[in-house]
Parts: sequence; structure tokens; C-alpha cells
Amino acid sequence: MQFGCESQTDKSVNVKKINIAIDGFSSCGKSTMAKGLAKKLGYTYIDTGAMYRAAALHAIRNGWMTGEGMEEEAIRESMGQLDISFRKDGKSNQNTYLNGENVENEIRSLEVADGASRISTLPFVRTTLVRLQQKMAEKGGVVMDGRDIGTVVMPDAELKIFLTASPEVRANRRFKEMQEKGENPKFEEVLHNVIERDQRDTTREVSPLRKAMDAIELDNSHMGIEEQLDWVLKQVKRVKS
Ligand code: DC
Repeated sequence: MQFGCESQTDKSVNVKKINIAIDGFSSCGKSTMAKGLAKKLGYTYIDTGAMYRAAALHAIRNGWMTGEGMEEEAIRESMGQLDISFRKDGKSNQNTYLNGENVENEIRSLEVADGASRISTLPFVRTTLVRLQQKMAEKGGVVMDGRDIGTVVMPDAELKIFLTASPEVRANRRFKEMQEKGENPKFEEVLHNVIERDQRDTTREVSPLRKAMDAIELDNSHMGIEEQLDWVLKQVKRVKS
């Protein structure tokens, strides 16, 4: 697994490297906050959702995941050969690679989002990916976003944020993102996908989405990204002082 650091840093908060966990519901702006924060701090950003999405894409492409269900044994056997990595392109954007292929665009479809939510319910998928994520965080200086980061992947993270926003606000953000990419989504479908994923993410048996006891909650329904970054940088300064 490869990953890199952004360079534009805020030196006043860059002395001691901590780990930062950002958890929350789908389309809550976790990755926007995590990416922005990693850039300010010169930390490594790790998008764990992209890892579940890449695992789902692999299963979909091989016919192990269809509308009918999942072939769990085939998915289990393939876990050892699954090579998921992150690489930066020339514009410093982080891309997700699956067995050497850039799948960054493909993993953002609604079909793969739904597949990721389903494959992430399999305990052996979670064990494999969590182990990889923990390895990435070993040296510190990581901003990681997902659903179980503060509770399972990095229970000792120095700073834990739990992001929330209403389903309608989140569906609207996702809807606009898709339109900007030239897609023609139906709002009702996007909202349905958000609500269905919330339900699955919070009720699955293994590592359901929940707020860690020591996480700080932020409802960003009515906040812009700059306001959120100012808020989270204050939290970083607080835990480092
Ligand atoms: O954050 P995202 O929408 O890219 O995540 C896709 C799916 O992966 C989401 O429905 C739940 C799952 N996921 C998870 O179970 N644990 C994580 N740490 C990250 C994502």
C-alpha cells in the first residue's frame, strides 16, 4: 500500500505528529475535511471507504456480488490477492489503485457505493482491511476517515471527530457532486441510497458505525469547508498543547 503526504503545511501545529480519526455517516463531508486537514498539517490522508469500495469493485467485476447476493467463499479466497493502494497523480490528487489499475472514478458510482456497504458487513473483509489501515497509522501523522476509525482501527487516536448532517443535506451534496461530474442522477434515488447505507452501516454486526466515547461531534449541515477546517484545527491545537 502506498501513500504520500501533502506539502502545504500549518507549521504552528506541526511539531508533534498525532493520529486523527474522522468518522460519520455517508456523504457527510468526511473526506473533504480529512483531505483539507491532512494538507494543512502535512499529514497522510487515508480514505478507508475507498478501500471497501475497491474490494467491492473487485467482487462485482468477478461476478461474486450481484443484485441477488454475495458469493462469500469466493470473496474470502480472493482476499489474499487483493492489492489496494493509493498513489498521487501529477496534480497531487490521491487515486485508489486496485491490483495496479487506477479505479478512482469507477469506485465512486452508486453501484460500487452500495457494494461497499454490503461487502463491509463481511467480518473477514473488515479484518483484512483494518489490519492494513492499522499498519498505515503505525508511525503517526495520519488523518483517516471512515466508520470505525475511532472505535476499532485507531482507538488510541489523539483526536477523534464524529461528523453528522441530515440525510437530505447529505443527499443534496452527493447529488450536486454527481451532476458536476456530468452524471444525471435522480435526487430520490440518491436520498434512498444515503438512507439505506445509513441503516446498513449502523446495524451491521461487525463494527457498526457509532460514535466513540471520546469523539467530538460536529453537525456540519450549515457549515462551509473553511469554517469546518478552522474548527478542526482548533481541536488539533487543543490536543497538542
Ligand atoms: O465513506 P464511503 O462512502 O466511501 O464508504 C463506502 C462504504 O464502505 C460505506 O457504506 C461503509 C463502508 N465503510 C466501512 O464499513 N468502514 C469504513 N471504515 C469505511 C467505509
